[in-house]
Amino acid sequence: CGIIGYVGSGDETADILMSGLFNLEYRGYDSAGIALIEPSLTMYKKAGEVTELERSLPSDTVRGAVGIGHTRWSTHGAPSDANAHPHTDCNGDVAVVHNGIIENYQELRAELADSGHEFESETDTEVVPHLIESFLETGANPEHAFRLAIDRIDGSYAIAAVFEDTEAVYAVRKHSPLVLGLGEDGNYLASDVPAFIAHTDRVIYLEDGEFVRLTEDEVVVTNTTGDVLEKTVDTIDWDPQDAGKSGYGHYMLKEINEQPQAIRQCLQGRTSEHQQSVLLEELADLDHDGLVQLVACGTSYHAAMYGEQLLQERGMQAQSFFASEYDADRIAVDNETLVIGVTQSGETADTLSALREANRAGAATLAVTNVVGSSAARECEYVVYIRAGPEISVAATKSFVSQQITLALIASTLADVSLPRFLRALQRLPDHIQRVLDRTTTPAVASEIADSEAYFFIGRGTHVPVALEGALKMKEITYKHAEGFPSGELKHGPLALLTPNTPVIALVTNGGETATKTIGNVNEVAARDAPVIAVTDARESVEGVSDTVLEVPRTHPWLAPVLANVQLQLLSYWVATRLGRPIDKPRHLAKTVTVE
Ligand code: G6P
Repeated sequence: CGIIGYVGSGDETADILMSGLFNLEYRGYDSAGIALIEPSLTMYKKAGEVTELERSLPSDTVRGAVGIGHTRWSTHGAPSDANAHPHTDCNGDVAVVHNGIIENYQELRAELADSGHEFESETDTEVVPHLIESFLETGANPEHAFRLAIDRIDGSYAIAAVFEDTEAVYAVRKHSPLVLGLGEDGNYLASDVPAFIAHTDRVIYLEDGEFVRLTEDEVVVTNTTGDVLEKTVDTIDWDPQDAGKSGYGHYMLKEINEQPQAIRQCLQGRTSEHQQSVLLEELADLDHDGLVQLVACGTSYHAAMYGEQLLQERGMQAQSFFASEYDADRIAVDNETLVIGVTQSGETADTLSALREANRAGAATLAVTNVVGSSAARECEYVVYIRAGPEISVAATKSFVSQQITLALIASTLADVSLPRFLRALQRLPDHIQRVLDRTTTPAVASEIADSEAYFFIGRGTHVPVALEGALKMKEITYKHAEGFPSGELKHGPLALLTPNTPVIALVTNGGETATKTIGNVNEVAARDAPVIAVTDARESVEGVSDTVLEVPRTHPWLAPVLANVQLQLLSYWVATRLGRPIDKPRHLAKTVTVE
């Protein structure tokens, strides 16, 4: 879900809010709405897509210089017009949008209902405008009423409010992102920069517990006690084009194609001149040789699994966890432990919660994230940015590769090993990926298998996380059943699922024992008449056992899975295209999940 707010002087507020909502669509949502001060307060909201909200706006009457907008991803109450944000009070004096969860909303709702407040939605958010109203009734001015209301709520939130006859937007954040944009013709706030990057690249990141009053020519940030804070203004170096599709049919394909550049950015200045060693300044004062735990969700968890294996290869003790399953009371975590949170957005609630647990248990924490100023970046002791650039498609692609590379650099730094051969291969990786992108035969292969019943992905060692990721990508964007397995596990159950209509995608690279064993498993598949697609750097090794070959250049064994993964991303993308799926915004999914 996402928030946008704007205060300017002209009549373009509705357009700015709507384009902001379109640019926030990638975060996932099920309803949308805006509120404008015209100067009376008017709200428009609708379940469904932002285009539906746009269609419902009366084109000639939408005026006003102040407004807020929201895309909602349901947490309390199903998607409906009534549950869509903004929410208002009984008198319609204040409108509020909110991301996050208000934990004590039931108690507040009961208290407000007792004093005569009537509620129109099932949301936790609706208590906020009513609380504000109750303070306005005692004579508080809008800003004071807003602060008093926030004082009463527990939970996680980014909240923005507008008031009838008041030319300002008031907002606050706690455990949910909020960034301010300083424009020439007004000021902006949003959950994320793409919402307003077409208008300004000058931003201020709000911290937890900070309030802001946004007017046409002033942005005043204060702390909980009302003291005015001096905030740093950052300049975003994303081209506004970056937040668009640059001619690709989907953000996902654009982002797959951006991977060579993402890796170059990730490596920039992080290896010594002749590729003898890794230079991660961010970790200069971290001297850790004990246990490393990695916590993450979704695609980032697969990157964490890969990181775990690289750390182990380099002689470290490492273990990865689904962030939602991390329990510092049950497993060994202490001040000798380093906990790495791998999170593209830096805002995933499960990952933040695991990191906070680790922190309480005395562990050192390190965020591996894409979003500068995100909660993970600010809350962890150490942060290494993956530098992938904005990722809009819900299905993560370039951020996964950038996480893998960043974790490889971190593993070398922690283990304090010099790996010139690996580092040279890393420098060549962008060109290798480019070769896969330029020469891929995947669209044709995808056409052949688009009607399949299910897809299975197998691999061994460092290919296991990529087999799991290949299956996750396939599920997310094609809505087809897909599963990934260590190839040795096939015979312990999944073989029973194989039919001529269930292609098995086998990751077989780099010769050696693992490849030989996987080829043995591929033979088991072929004997059950399931089609085999081999992703390989040695065509001759799979000829005779696979029906189709997707080739990748030969590279260092630790980077082979990174290359193989590009073929899997393309495979899912082209199958989803053949099936006509809404690739960038798969049903039921959100880019950033800010609830546990
Ligand atoms: C959501 C997204 C996934 C992503 C996961 C973790 O589920 O749909 O693509 O991998 O969150 O996100 P993070 O921002 O923490 O990497």
